[in-house]
Amino acid sequence: MASNPKTLTFEEVSKHNHKKDCWIIVNRKVYDITPFLDDHPGGDEVLVTSTAKDATIDFEDVGHSDSAIEIMEKYYIGNFDTSTLPANVNHRQPPPTQAHGGGNQSSEFVVKILQFLLPLVILGLAFALRSYGKEKQAAPHES
Ligand code: HEM
Repeated sequence: MASNPKTLTFEEVSKHNHKKDCWIIVNRKVYDITPFLDDHPGGDEVLVTSTAKDATIDFEDVGHSDSAIEIMEKYYIGNFDTSTLPANVNHRQPPPTQAHGGGNQSSEFVVKILQFLLPLVILGLAFALRSYGKEKQAAPHES
């Protein structure tokens, strides 16, 4: 491991995005895994598609073993400057907290109101039917 690690920007790291020159970013560290491509049990293709982005989630989703993490350390070349990561280049899944769901939020609100109102309407109808039935029972005596 380097005693004085370099800090690398996204622009720099993302240039190394093919089989003959392949760098990946995992957990804010940069790895030059070019010599490892042929030996990767998951194949080289998946490594190349993990370049030019933060591959942390992809790496962790596989559930790599401790020995995979040990191998990885051999290829460490520097730290990643996270402030240079473009907002649109990233993980497959968008973050779960989406603040712009305006349409969704209002339809959720309507559903909640309906859930509250529906039992009240049914109860009201039941009472109305009951008193109507009572009135009908009383009516024949009048004529
Ligand atoms: C320096 C980086 C990496 C190293 C050293 C590494 C190492 C390994 C090793 C040793 C295995 C065998 C299973 C294990 O021991 O966990 C493996 C499997 C695998 N890796 Fe990686 N890997 C790296 C990065 C990645 C990345 C970025 C991906 C992207 C998704 C990936 C996807 C896979 C897949 C799909 C398998 C196959 C799992 C299976 O079929 O059982 N790896 N890797």
